[in-house]
Amino acid sequence: MDSIVVTGNGPLSGQIPIAGAKNACLTLMPATLLSDEPLTLTNAPRLSDIRTMTALLESLGAEVQSLQGGRVLAMSSHDLTNLTAHYDIVRKMRASILVLGPLLARHGQAVVSLPGGCAIGARPVDLHLRALEAMGAEMELRDGYVHARAPGGLKGGEVEFPFVSVGATENALMAATLARGTTVLKNAAREPEIVDLAVCLNAMGARIEGAGSSTITVEGVDSLHGATHPVVADRIELGTYMLAPAICGGEVELVGGRLDLVAAFVEKLGEAGIEVAETEAGLKVTRGDGRVRAVDVVTAPFPGFPTDLQAQMMALLCTAEGVSRLEERIFENRFMHAPELMRMGAKIDVHGGTATVTGVERLRGAPVMATDLRASVSLILAGLAAEGETVVNRVYHLDRGYEHVVRKLQDVGAKIERIRGQ
Ligand code: EPZ
Repeated sequence: MDSIVVTGNGPLSGQIPIAGAKNACLTLMPATLLSDEPLTLTNAPRLSDIRTMTALLESLGAEVQSLQGGRVLAMSSHDLTNLTAHYDIVRKMRASILVLGPLLARHGQAVVSLPGGCAIGARPVDLHLRALEAMGAEMELRDGYVHARAPGGLKGGEVEFPFVSVGATENALMAATLARGTTVLKNAAREPEIVDLAVCLNAMGARIEGAGSSTITVEGVDSLHGATHPVVADRIELGTYMLAPAICGGEVELVGGRLDLVAAFVEKLGEAGIEVAETEAGLKVTRGDGRVRAVDVVTAPFPGFPTDLQAQMMALLCTAEGVSRLEERIFENRFMHAPELMRMGAKIDVHGGTATVTGVERLRGAPVMATDLRASVSLILAGLAAEGETVVNRVYHLDRGYEHVVRKLQDVGAKIERIRGQ
């Protein structure tokens, strides 16, 4: 297994390009199953999760051509050969469940393995199933698989989510585009990835209104045609790299960054004393002299503070002046980076869903273990400003969500390299 070696190397400066959003691409790709015409995605990120979704779509008989070094995905599901998403692929990536809604909507049936949990929590899919049942689908759970049928096709219905679920909103939204009649999704997720999906589906001929708000209305249509759609910028990659100059000092411009994608996060950075300015090319982050100020963070569905930036923010607050409280309200086990940060000298007290961080002057480099995608990058961020060398092990987690993380950070002056494992 590869590892990444980071050595504190002072302030950073330069530009980091922001790629297309992993979590947008992972719901845009299954949308190809809704049409027998080609769907092409541009600005696609080059990540192992995208390769996993490609393998899943190909296992169904769809075609996925990766062009321009993976930046363009030309897809077609004209000739599906099977409607079963097998466990051996689904277990690698939870987002595989997002083929369920499209397969049901267009083919009236689907067999999809239950994804199972992951490091950050049980992550059930009950809201996905209930939403599709509200559109007339019959669901049967058997041998670890969801056996879904909609013999006469899906029909429009009212779906009220008991709490916000990004994936369940995406599955229901895709299914509703081909359901007979009107579907109303209430308490829908408002993430930019939902808006991006709606823009793509409408470009394919869907009739969606209200994406980005809590209530989305969909008029079903008989069929969808092909389209070409640019994947929205990755707000989590953006926020992650904004923290590099925040932690190390200096000034870095995030090319392609959009303020509207990270407003709550930028507000918190401001409270901590980090300056963020919009530029022609994106966002510029500047940290002057002096220590960062402690701040309190509560994760929430968009437009609140993103749970996917909680681990990275904790890395910043480990060396802030004062005591910060981070409350994780989306997932039940998303503080696994805390013990690793404590190996670097951080003072963190975790009780249930709240982590209390008492800032220290400086962290010290140490060998640490990546446990999940976002935790792994928070350890790299901590290592950028720590005294001495940090070795982050099990970096395969990183490859799921960050393309060329070593090169992007080297380009702004970080002392970081990837060591090939045996
Ligand atoms: C998406 O996961 C993202 N993944 C996650 O990013 C992100 O953390 C999450 O949304 C929240 O923003 C993708 O888009 C591929 P949820 P998702 O359904 O859709 C519970 C990353 O690092 N829940 O909004 O799975 C669930 O357990 C990943 O890129 C149910 O109980 O998240 C969680 O506690 C990590 N039943 C909460 O709701 C359900 O049917 C929110 O989950 C569905 C979810």
